Amino acid sequence: MQFTVSSILALAASATAATIQVAVGQNGLTYTPNNITASVGDLIQFSFFPKNHSVTQSSFADPCHPLAGGFFSTFQKTTLSQKDLAIISTPDSQYTPLTWPTVQHIIRTNRLDAFQRQPSELRRYLAYNHTLKKLHGSIMAFILKERLGWEEPLVAKGNGEGKGVFEEESDWKVLWNDWPYGIDPRVVHLVVWTKFELEEDAGTGDLTNRARGEIEELVSRVFRERCGGENVIWFKNWKSLKSVHAVEHFHVMLYDPDPSFIKEITHGDIPLSQKV
Ligand SMILES: *[C@@H]1O[C@H](CO)[C@@H](O)[C@H](O)[C@H]1NC(C)=O
Ligand SMILES: *[C@@H]1O[C@H](CO)[C@@H](O)[C@H](O)[C@H]1NC(C)=O
Ligand SMILES: *[C@@H]1O[C@H](CO)[C@@H](O)[C@H](O)[C@H]1NC(C)=O
Repeated sequence: MQFTVSSILALAASATAATIQVAVGQNGLTYTPNNITASVGDLIQFSFFPKNHSVTQSSFADPCHPLAGGFFSTFQKTTLSQKDLAIISTPDSQYTPLTWPTVQHIIRTNRLDAFQRQPSELRRYLAYNHTLKKLHGSIMAFILKERLGWEEPLVAKGNGEGKGVFEEESDWKVLWNDWPYGIDPRVVHLVVWTKFELEEDAGTGDLTNRARGEIEELVSRVFRERCGGENVIWFKNWKSLKSVHAVEHFHVMLYDPDPSFIKEITHGDIPLSQKV
């Protein structure tokens, strides 16, 4: 289990409901903040830090043991990378979104590990990741079924002799990246999912020149022509950084594109982060 979040939803929903974040075990055996005042309808979201904590309602007579009929989250064992832990321990106000030139520089110098999510977004992402796994068994199953509507085994129709791999339109799909990185909000981050493998060099794990050429050709035809070359950049995550293994994909970022183009190319897709 990764980072987990439990929520208590007060009984009556309210139009002005607030979400109150409480960190569990972030600074030792503490809740941060350690007291809150919530209104009926507010959502209290507990984020569990490593290693194994609970939120337990107990009595003075018998502290640390769950009170009969009281709130008990059960123990939430949590592991988190040092990088993610550092990010979610930072308030959003201390996070500066990356600018478009910085984004381009990071991609061109292959420093993809420099991308990170805004702390509150990472928290939501981690919590939702956990929920998805519970509901669908794996993130991959969720993406195939709910996001792409593709059935396994994935069989590409095209990819035949002398045909460009992207020629058959049913073999690939462009969707919004579900959980945004902490970058200039004018940058639109899309993911191109493919039913076929993008060929990698077995030794280095890098894309082969042929695969690179095929992606370049697609990106020029579909994105650069419409958005201008200087507003388009693509990258493929290193294996070690990929959060979704097994369904082939690469990323495209567009600077300040025409929203109608995004709607058209994604067939009106809405990123998950805006739906949940
Ligand atoms: C409740 O929290 C506020 C700030 O979050 C703090 O100033 C106050 O002392 C706390 N009250 C108690 C009783 O701990
Ligand atoms: C978490 O801690 C509780 C209480 O000490 C323990 O019973 C439980 O086995 C622990 N869970 C894991 C997965 O280590
Ligand atoms: C999301 O869940 C998958 C497992 O379904 C896991 O491999 C991945 O590391 C998780 N991502 C994060 C950032 O926790």
